[in-house]
Amino acid sequence: MGALDGQIVVFTGAGAGIGRAVVERYVAEGACVVAVDISERVLELASELGPAVRPLVADIATWEGNTAAVDAALTTWGRLDVFVANAGITDAARPLEDIPGERLPTAFGELFGVNVLAPLLGVRAALDSLLESRGSVIITGSFAGSNTAGGGVLYTASKHAVHGLVRQLAYELAPDVRVNGVAPGVAPTRLRGTVALGQTTADSVLDGTRERLPLQAIPPTDAYSGIFTLLASRTEAAAMTGSVVTADSGLSVRGIARPGGRV
Ligand SMILES: NC(=O)c1ccc[n+]([C@@H]2O[C@H](COP(=O)([O-])OP(=O)(O)OC[C@H]3O[C@@H](n4cnc5c(N)ncnc54)[C@H](O)[C@@H]3O)[C@@H](O)[C@H]2O)c1
Repeated sequence: MGALDGQIVVFTGAGAGIGRAVVERYVAEGACVVAVDISERVLELASELGPAVRPLVADIATWEGNTAAVDAALTTWGRLDVFVANAGITDAARPLEDIPGERLPTAFGELFGVNVLAPLLGVRAALDSLLESRGSVIITGSFAGSNTAGGGVLYTASKHAVHGLVRQLAYELAPDVRVNGVAPGVAPTRLRGTVALGQTTADSVLDGTRERLPLQAIPPTDAYSGIFTLLASRTEAAAMTGSVVTADSGLSVRGIARPGGRV
C-alpha cells in the first residue's frame, strides 16, 4: 500500500529536475498525476510511468494553462486531491546593477509570472475541486525564499513572495484545504532563465557550492521526493498547513570559519 493510494494530483514543472523525480515517487506511492510542463519532454512520462500519468504541455503562467490542467484531472479521474505548483524559472543570479532599467519591467513580469502568479492561477483554477475533496496545495519555494544570494534580486524576491503565498493561502483556505511549501537548497538541475534578459538555461549548482554546504554533498533531484510525499499525505501531514519545509543541506546553519563543525 502506497502513501498516496488513490490521490489525484496536478503537478507543474513535471518535465525535468525535482518535479520529474517527485512525479515518479508519487506514482510509486499510488497517485495518479496530471504532469504539466511547457516543455514537450513531459510527454516521455507517459511511456516511462504508464497510465497513472497524464502528461500535458501547457504554459502555467496563463489562466488557460491551469484550467486545462485541472480539467485534465477531472475528465480523466473525476476529482482532484493535490495541486503542486512546482514550475519555476531563474534570473541566473543577475544583480540589479547588471539589469538594464528598460528591461526590468519585462524581466520582472516574466519571472514573477512563472514563480508567483502561476501558483495563484493554479490554486484559483483548482479551488472548487480542492474544496470538494478537502485536498491540499504544495508550492515549491527555495532557500532564496528566506535568504540572500540563492539567486539574483528578481528570483530572491519571487521566492520570498512564494513563502508569503503559502502562509496567506493556508490561512484563507483553512479549515478545508491544507497549503504547504518545500524550500530546497540546491539540486543538480538546469533552470530556464528569462528571455527578457537574454538567458537560456543556467546550472542550479555553481562552482564551489558543494564545499560550502555543511552536508558537503550536492543532493540528487530525488532527495526532495519524500518531503513532497509527506506533505501530500492526508494522514502523515494532517496537522500541517502554512509550513514551508526547509531542505537546504544545512545552508541556514552554515558556520563562518568552516561550513560545518566537523568539516
Ligand atoms: N535546482 C535548485 O537548486 C533549486 C533550489 C531551490 C528551489 N528550486 C525550485 O525548484 C523548482 C523546480 O526547479 P528545478 O530545479 O527542478 O528546475 P527544472 O528547470 O529542472 O524544472 C522546472 C520545470 O518547470 C518548467 N517550466 C518553466 N516555466 C514553465 C511554464 N511557464 N509552464 C509550465 N512549465 C514551466 C520547465 O520546463 C522545467 O521542466 C522551481 O520552482 C525552482 O525555483 C530549485
